[in-house]
Amino acid sequence: MISYTKQPHAREYRLIFKNVDREDWDTNIDTYINDGGYEDLKKAILMNPKDITEEVKKSGLRGRGGAGFPTGMKWTFIPPQNTKPIYLICNGDESEPGTFKDRYILHQDPHQLIEGMVISCFAVGAHKAYIYLREEFPQAAIIVEKAIEDARSKNFVGTNILGSGFDLEIYVHRGAGAYICGEETGLIESLEGKRPYPRIKPPYFPAALGLYMCPTIVNNVESLCHVKHIIRMGGDEYAKLGVARNTGTRILCVSGDVKHPGYFEVEVGKVTMRELLYDMCGGPRDGREIKAVIPGGSSSKILKADEVFIIKNPDGTERELAFWDIPMDFDSLAACGSMAGSGGVIVLDDTRKMSWVLNNINAFYAHESCGQCTPCREGSAWMKKISDRLVDGNATSMDIETLESIAYQIDGRTICAFGEASSWPVEAIIAKFRDELLADTKLEIADEPANPEAVAQRRFRVH
Ligand SMILES: Cc1cc2nc3c(=O)[nH]c(=O)nc-3n(C[C@H](O)[C@H](O)[C@H](O)COP(=O)(O)O)c2cc1C
Ligand code: SF4
Repeated sequence: MISYTKQPHAREYRLIFKNVDREDWDTNIDTYINDGGYEDLKKAILMNPKDITEEVKKSGLRGRGGAGFPTGMKWTFIPPQNTKPIYLICNGDESEPGTFKDRYILHQDPHQLIEGMVISCFAVGAHKAYIYLREEFPQAAIIVEKAIEDARSKNFVGTNILGSGFDLEIYVHRGAGAYICGEETGLIESLEGKRPYPRIKPPYFPAALGLYMCPTIVNNVESLCHVKHIIRMGGDEYAKLGVARNTGTRILCVSGDVKHPGYFEVEVGKVTMRELLYDMCGGPRDGREIKAVIPGGSSSKILKADEVFIIKNPDGTERELAFWDIPMDFDSLAACGSMAGSGGVIVLDDTRKMSWVLNNINAFYAHESCGQCTPCREGSAWMKKISDRLVDGNATSMDIETLESIAYQIDGRTICAFGEASSWPVEAIIAKFRDELLADTKLEIADEPANPEAVAQRRFRVH
């Protein structure tokens, strides 16, 4: 029986966070080895690399960095006739507001990540790998660099790993502190020593044209950790965790207005919104009610606590799904018009004014836009200026229309998905809390639109 400083909730399933906040745990390599560490690498290194990829495909693992893209499938996108070096990059930028899971792995269980990375590199044929860490993780850089050296001393990293003939070097690279370095092509530019301007896709899909224009696999810290468990359990067995198409476990990071915020590792889709927020997080603070939730990091669309969604069943029929019954998985949250994203669940109670929430989010995106594309650079700043007016009590109802129009003009018109990340929260908050936002405006304006058609035209909707 493992003892933790914070005992896991009964509904948790600890796979990736098995060693996090464990009382008898430290980052020493011997601690990890004595706990069965690097046994999965010993197994994997005897396998055919293609079979490792097959197991990852069978496992159904979907990336934990935000998009939920199938990991095994991504690995197969490396061009088969490739003659260039192949790179693997571990995305440790963890910059999505509301997300705080990768930091625990980096700080407390670096060897789990290294083991997952070595297996992944062996599978895809990469001999050089990078762990890209956000600038704000200086301690993680020290811990991970030490762990790499310790792994090298035991021949888990370096030349002729465990006598297999497979060579791999892993380097830590620290960013300089920018959200956009989490976007995989911005990250690659940064790693190349340049300003992190995201690249346009196509043609610059990293698996084909990534670091130094060579095939590059970019995976999130948590995703790479899962690989070692898939090897231990086998892909089919791993796929029994979670629900169909949403397999395995994932770490939900709950912040905001609940009694017990924190991290919770659960089988994907096995807990509902109600179970997460009430059973696991203790519900809202006394006397308060949960008003809304941003379920997958700040860029995911907000969900109202009283919403009921119409969901399509696999057989084409429809059913109702209330907010509180949403299973916390990729497909269910997408069916409700939002996303599971990075696992950052931000809870807002009835004390939160939506104009303040909107302004807070807009301020972040206006600050973090890389400035490369006009709709994002200008639009994110305009949205912030308008919501500044809103919180200051100086906005008109026209401002809400303009704000909405700007968001829809960014969405779908930018080089990278930051455009959507900044506009989706605005679109959703306005759609769902329009009356509340309007109540914060000065309604008695002179230029109140007389013609509703003109308002409709200003909304440049692409959906
Ligand atoms: C603006 C933006 C920021 C992102 N930030 C992160 C991040 O901090 N960490 C991360 O793993 N992925 C982040 N991503 C997603 C990455 O581009 C990429 O999809 C991911 O690292 C792939 O790993 P996965 O397949 O294991 O999820 C971000 C994407 C965008 C558009
Ligand atoms: S969408 Fe924004 S962050 Fe992405 S490339 Fe364009 S300006 Fe930069």
